[in-house]
Amino acid sequence: SDIYRDGVYGSRPVVPVAPAALEAAARRRMSARGWAYVAGGAGAERTVAANAAAFTRHRIVPRIMADVGERSLRTTLLGRDLPAPLLLAPVGALELAVRGGPGRAEPLVARAARELGVPVVISSQASTPMEATAAELGGSPRWFQLYWSNDDDVAASLVARAEAAGAGAVVVTLDTPVLGWRPRDLDLGSLPFARGEGIAQYTSDPAFRRLASTRRSTPARRRPTLAAVRALAAMRRRGATRADVETFLDVFSRPTLTWRDLAWLRERTRLPILVKGVQHPDDARRALDAGADGVVVSNHGGRQADNAIASLDALPGVVSAVRATAPTAPVLFDSGVRTGADVFVALALGADAVLLGRPWVYGLALAGEAGVRAVVRHVLAELDLTMALAGVRGVAEIAAGHLAPRDGAA
Ligand code: FNR
Repeated sequence: SDIYRDGVYGSRPVVPVAPAALEAAARRRMSARGWAYVAGGAGAERTVAANAAAFTRHRIVPRIMADVGERSLRTTLLGRDLPAPLLLAPVGALELAVRGGPGRAEPLVARAARELGVPVVISSQASTPMEATAAELGGSPRWFQLYWSNDDDVAASLVARAEAAGAGAVVVTLDTPVLGWRPRDLDLGSLPFARGEGIAQYTSDPAFRRLASTRRSTPARRRPTLAAVRALAAMRRRGATRADVETFLDVFSRPTLTWRDLAWLRERTRLPILVKGVQHPDDARRALDAGADGVVVSNHGGRQADNAIASLDALPGVVSAVRATAPTAPVLFDSGVRTGADVFVALALGADAVLLGRPWVYGLALAGEAGVRAVVRHVLAELDLTMALAGVRGVAEIAAGHLAPRDGAA
């Protein structure tokens, strides 16, 4: 591949290729607050660790003499031809990962994705209004990730804007009725969002503006702390007010949701709906019965419930449930994908595609647009080589038969 050829002639990669080195370099580059937010997980971070460890329990069985001279990563998802079975996972408040202020991150990510043709899942909590990101993307694919707002008008407005911005699907994240317990953020004494990070999708929204304008924010203390003064200044730089931030915290999620509510969303959009955050086969079945077009098996990168099972361990059961309910419904996977070999394993266990999360954020922190592009290219190059070594020419061929039977069972 080009990456090897570059290596032969002595040019160093833009960002480290080895996952651990990439992470270490990003850690050195990012602010303490940014690092805590991006790398951190819920509780004692046992699920963060479990997500990674689960991949070590699956072994690929190499095959030889299979004519792998021509290979393709191309695949089709929701009727659209894609260069690879990989999307950029939705990541909110990205401004915490880059230097240079709000609004800078998403355009860089969009340009990287556009050049690769890899879809971006635009976060509800982006630091750039989705219309601006969509403009950078041109004709390149984008999906919209929805946090189901407590306010109907805001939720409906976000979805309508996503349609207008050319989204190919709505990914509704349902593993976040409340934000998880995040000790690293708590220890720093400044929660992400507290200074208005990741609020641009809302402050640019007409339904949200109406709501925020009627809000009377809690009166400021007569002698505000230094932290409070700083937070206010940071909000002002984002064009946000205290009322905006308080309204945002009130409406960002809706903890009362049940499966019956999915009909409301189904009626409001003609776009395919994917439910993100599925870990139990019954939830997959219920999502499809309630009108979802597919699911994303995810535990939010171990950021929600700690001691939750590894997302990869949840995958096979969900795949079986989906295949039995709606055979063609896509099953996407995320939480713990770090390498091309990881993508191979997830596909072998039945995923149709994966969402890449933290690694591209590290690339962004290290080298902006070029960093995101490099990280994605490294993962896809390794996937391509892994396919060759497993005797596979196309992603549709990747199946359970390419993995060793577990625990000696056939
Ligand atoms: C996320 N994730 C996330 N998910 C979502 O639906 N909306 C969001 O706004 C965010 N924001 C977000 C911020 C940060 C910093 C991280 C790390 C993650 C979850 C994300 O989409 C994906 O599920 C995880 O990143 C997958 O885990 P790994 O592979 O990154 O460990």
